[in-house]
Amino acid sequence: MEIFSRIVGTGRALPGKPVTNAELATRLAQSGVDTSDDWIRERTGISQRYIAADGVHTSDLAFEASGHALQSAGVSAKDIDLIILATSTPDMIFPSTACLLQKKLGASGGAAFDVQAVCSGFAYAMATADLFIKAGKAKTALVVGAEVFSGILDWSDRATCVLFGDGAGAVVLKADSTPGILGHRLHARGEFESILRTPGTVSHGKAVGHPFLTMDGQSVFKLAVQVLDSVAREVLADVGHQVSDIDWLIPHQANVRILSATAKRLGIDEAKVVVTVDQHANTSAASVPLALDVAVRDGRIRSGQRLMLQGVGGGFTWGAVYLQF
Ligand code: ACO
Repeated sequence: MEIFSRIVGTGRALPGKPVTNAELATRLAQSGVDTSDDWIRERTGISQRYIAADGVHTSDLAFEASGHALQSAGVSAKDIDLIILATSTPDMIFPSTACLLQKKLGASGGAAFDVQAVCSGFAYAMATADLFIKAGKAKTALVVGAEVFSGILDWSDRATCVLFGDGAGAVVLKADSTPGILGHRLHARGEFESILRTPGTVSHGKAVGHPFLTMDGQSVFKLAVQVLDSVAREVLADVGHQVSDIDWLIPHQANVRILSATAKRLGIDEAKVVVTVDQHANTSAASVPLALDVAVRDGRIRSGQRLMLQGVGGGFTWGAVYLQF
């Protein structure tokens, strides 16, 4: 009997109150940084983001999102035998944020580790969890994307700081004879590492290098649209499906222009694209599970529908996971 990994619960967490573009522009103006609601809205479609208070860490948001996912799945933390957490903003260098989450949840015993693939992290984590489940190495996996990206933003760089936000999303995957994840593809092209990166580290107790996000926005835009189209087609070809079989496209929530261009290239109706970037900006690894949870809880995504989840980001990395919900 074929084993599938099936999503049985979803959850999300966003810290504090939303910060609108206008509020952000006012705050930034105090330090001489000039931006506006019009510019942000027009170029990105973003209208607000959430910014974690000092002392709120990635594992805190992951814990809240995981609690909702476990509750909606009707699964106890004790039943989780695998935790994979995608983040580029871990609480600390080590232990992994997945281990810190395991402790907070009161789960123990199964494998727990972080995946670092920036905005593709959730696709990488889902594909990895699926391989564990299909190989019979895990039965109930918690897959999380969580970020406190505000901590790596250069708030004097208006070209990047307005684009991102903090948040977390989680899903519970269970081994089942009913599909389930149908296919996935992951890719990376390290030669493009310089177009999106945070090139700093900690050494001898000091931040070394530039510990803030830098981006060549136009190069990222062009590559993102190209690979989101190609990776969706690859996964569909792997499983013998067509673009018309997709009920909901849930791409990485970076920018509405990227989402629209992807839908256009794929030839999919924009009404089938889940868009939440306007509400929480780009939350990197958290963006896809956040969007998924919104569309599940508002009733758009229904049992049996086919979803294409897609990530793209620093590395340069990209990937897609195609599944029946
Ligand atoms: N407010 C006001 N003006 C701004 C701001 C801002 N926040 N940021 C930049 N500008 C100005 C620039 O200084 C420039 O002014 P100039 O013409 O006087 O020099 C002008 O706006 C145009 O700047 P560009 O960088 O050329 O703007 P562009 O149209 O390329 O839009 C953007 C920038 C939105 C980042 C775009 O390149 C983009 O969408 N890129 C995709 C990248 C993305 O979404 N990244 C998210 C992370 S990556 C990922 O998740 C995959």
